[in-house]
Amino acid sequence: MNIAGARKEVYSAEAYVSGKSMDDVKKEFNLTKVVKLGSNENPYAPFPNSLRAMVAEMPVIGVYPEANFIKLRKTLGEKFNLGSEYIGLGHGGGGVLDTIARLFVESGDEVILPKQSYRLYREISKLMGGTVREVSLDDKYTVNIDDIIKTISPKTKLVWMCNPNNPTGTIVDKADIDRLLDALPERAWLVLDEAYAEFSNADELPDTIDLIKKNKRILSVRTFSKYYGLAGARIGYVIASPNVISGFDTVSEPFNANRIALAGAIECLTSDKNNVEKAAKLLLEERERVTDELEKMNLEVTKSYSNFIFFKVPCDADALGLFLTKRGVIVRPCGGWGYANHIRVTIGTKEEMNEFLKQLAEGIRAMNN
Ligand SMILES: Cc1ncc(COP(=O)(O)O)c(C=O)c1O
Repeated sequence: MNIAGARKEVYSAEAYVSGKSMDDVKKEFNLTKVVKLGSNENPYAPFPNSLRAMVAEMPVIGVYPEANFIKLRKTLGEKFNLGSEYIGLGHGGGGVLDTIARLFVESGDEVILPKQSYRLYREISKLMGGTVREVSLDDKYTVNIDDIIKTISPKTKLVWMCNPNNPTGTIVDKADIDRLLDALPERAWLVLDEAYAEFSNADELPDTIDLIKKNKRILSVRTFSKYYGLAGARIGYVIASPNVISGFDTVSEPFNANRIALAGAIECLTSDKNNVEKAAKLLLEERERVTDELEKMNLEVTKSYSNFIFFKVPCDADALGLFLTKRGVIVRPCGGWGYANHIRVTIGTKEEMNEFLKQLAEGIRAMNN
């Protein structure tokens, strides 16, 4: 890459590598049916009322978003017992994270993040001129808060953390988050990416809303892409103190959520609430069943608090991933995170997971012969 005039930070950033798309895989391997379990999407989406509301927006798509922008903030505020001034919107959790980096990170700042986690934190921080301090997960594939605290310096501006963590599905608890917040220097903030929080029980996670209400220096980032199944609509939000939200709104673009996504998100929280919850119940049941099945295959499975499972295989995960892809099952080998023998699989429907388990067993057999 060599672009005349591009900022020097652009050259230090790496492009995001997304999971394989169904169309690419169908074409490349001449398949008619593909099970996509590589991007943590929701197989039950879109939900009926949300779909109807999104379609109903089409005739007015020529007009910038209006009332629903305010309504979604209000609806989210009510969900968390907060005023809408605590909520900022963006194009997916990714868009929100990017705006947070633009709000806080400048040259000379250090940011701390887990090495085996969602990559965007690293790239957006480098792009803003920040110096990235990466901290490895422990041998249980979990963030070790003491290691994060040891890495804090007077230059620390942000700590980025994903809870539950992608790709390992592990969590840090309330006591750890309290300790970390107490250890942060005056001008530093914890950005807790809770993209998968809805797949855990609330009592297993820190109460971030309570921490925000208590004026702790923490921001919670959430998305409609996973639990609510609106990945293609691109809508996410941040919950933080009104002061931070007003800064967030100042640096983000004027209309930072689109009409269709806004309409879909509002219905997910209201008229589709039961449908969303029913789907999540199925996914959580399936998560437990697939965990058991993988364990029966003598594979080491990391307990998941999310809509995906991280597990170890007795062969090269990339090669096994390719075997599965050729058989029409897309998963995420974790070599890019330094886990050459681990795979992350999204929880799909029972039929999808049966197909995955069948092909996985055949793949492992083939790899070890
Ligand atoms: C931890 C985490 N945060 C944020 C995102 C961004 O998702 P989106 O931009 O679709 O909301 C993802 C997507 O995979 C994720 O895994």
